[in-house]
Amino acid sequence: MNRGRFITIEGIEGTGKSTNVEFLKSLVKEHEVEVITTREPGGTPLAEQIRELLLVHREENLPPLTELLLFFASRSVMLKNLVIPALERGDWVICDRFTDATRAYQGAGRGLDISVIEQLADWVHGGLQPDLTVLLDAPAELGISRVKSRGQGDRMDSQELIFYEKVRTAYLNLAKENSERFVVVDATESLVDVQNSIREAVVPLFAL
Ligand code: TMP
Repeated sequence: MNRGRFITIEGIEGTGKSTNVEFLKSLVKEHEVEVITTREPGGTPLAEQIRELLLVHREENLPPLTELLLFFASRSVMLKNLVIPALERGDWVICDRFTDATRAYQGAGRGLDISVIEQLADWVHGGLQPDLTVLLDAPAELGISRVKSRGQGDRMDSQELIFYEKVRTAYLNLAKENSERFVVVDATESLVDVQNSIREAVVPLFAL
């Protein structure tokens, strides 16, 4: 049996990832393919507990290196217990964020050594890369104002604007460097236009 396709969706806060994860799922289902959706950090009960550790506001500082290791801890359990078995069954997996988020947030945002991130990525999922990564791109100010309008944010939603500007630039650079798997979609366009662009990007995966 063919391995299923692995699609990731990325972008700074407030770019409409959750809505478009659901849209992607409905697109894949139109082709009568089994599909699961998941998210990072999280996706399994244990990984959701790690998510809680990462996102809750607390008094004690969470050092950037610990943050990095927790993101990879969540990823490794989610891959082992959910994603890899699904792909091996031939199901498609749509994941709300993956290692590109670590490159952008912990690499560019926190300033951690990218070679350490790549070593961890290699160790945790060397043999697995996304078949397609949809980057929903919008200016940091717009994303942040959308998040603020939803109420008090979590620990990762509460960084300075400059942090999200660095993250956005890093995502755009990753898209340029990995153009074979990335598609950049302008998230400031209407939802119909955004979803048309996503549809166009997904179609070739059915032919593989
Ligand atoms: P979410 O709220 O979009 O689900 O994402 C949780 C937060 O975690 C979001 O601010 C992005 C951040 N994050 C990282 O900093 N590094 C990572 O590797 C991942 C997956 C998410």
